[in-house]
Amino acid sequence: MLRVENLVTRFHTYDGVVRALEGVSFEVREGEIFGLVGETGCGKSVTTYSTLRLLPSTGRVHSGRITLSGESLLDASESRMREVRGGEIAMIFQDPLSALNPVMRVGDQIAESVWLHDDLPDADAVAVRVEEVLGEVRMPDPAGAARAFPHELSGGMQQRVMIAMALAGRPKMLIADEPTTALDVTIQSQVLQLLRQLKQEAGLTVLLITHDLGVVAELCDRVAVMYAGTIVETAPVEELFSDPKHPYTQGLLAALPGASETLAPVPGRVPDLLAPPSGCRFHPRCPLAVDRCRAEAPELRGDTRQVACHEVEP
Ligand SMILES: Nc1ncnc2c1ncn2[C@@H]1O[C@H](COP(=O)(O)OP(=O)(O)OP(=O)(O)O)[C@@H](O)[C@H]1O
Ligand SMILES: [Mg+2]
Repeated sequence: MLRVENLVTRFHTYDGVVRALEGVSFEVREGEIFGLVGETGCGKSVTTYSTLRLLPSTGRVHSGRITLSGESLLDASESRMREVRGGEIAMIFQDPLSALNPVMRVGDQIAESVWLHDDLPDADAVAVRVEEVLGEVRMPDPAGAARAFPHELSGGMQQRVMIAMALAGRPKMLIADEPTTALDVTIQSQVLQLLRQLKQEAGLTVLLITHDLGVVAELCDRVAVMYAGTIVETAPVEELFSDPKHPYTQGLLAALPGASETLAPVPGRVPDLLAPPSGCRFHPRCPLAVDRCRAEAPELRGDTRQVACHEVEP
């Protein structure tokens, strides 16, 4: 459904050119939950902002291709992109309160998304649709929630409202950027369960962005591991955990005390993307590095399992 090929995105800053993404490729298939996982600053959010063409003015997609069901998003007009955002690819963010309008009733905020993307005859039909969407996200009292202001709802309920707003436009795909980081553990698992139900019952396709391997294990079908603006490995989730191929992925998994812990860094530091390492960006931290790794960036090779490493076969 969504295919990203060799995406290169850079920021032009006073300090120089930040080489944020250097050839990112992955594919999200219809009806799956695809995880994009990696340490802070590795380029997860820049990947989604590039996809939706929401980069700040200093950021530019330098090269690459992004297609949604075959349509090139980098070549689409700005008015077409406004339809795509929310109508075909909806996004939910980390902090629900900052994305909700505090002085507007929840139902009216969802109604705005409905008006924008749905062709309904009148306000009554919109109100019905608003309650329907709140029901889809398992809001306990949809009519009551629609009349509430955001601060009157708990954090988990606010996150449900965010997901309802995203689903109101009947998108093909949902991009969830760290949707559970700001939530406590119980609410986090409720939101994850909701995403799973939406996938199973409504066939929703999800690109889930997280730094939490526990979330990946619990929810995703396939996963791509990012490191310093590159994809180092792509795999079905069970295979990634049972047989990690890339030295970086192996380090991440070895550093996990339990299956549901947040990523612990591999020895060494994440590189400065103003002056990234030559060749493979992981080579300064890699136990397997040879001369070739310093000179030449490895391509992502393989089929169902993909690895970007000179020393490892996919
Ligand atoms: N506006 C910007 N100007 C310059 N550099 C930027 C800008 N936005 C992001 N970057 C750089 O791009 C890289 C990737 O950032 P990004 O926000 O995508 O990371 P992330 O993987 O989403 O991290 P996190 O887990 O903290 O959300 C970082 O090195 C960051 O410093
Ligand atoms: Mg981010």
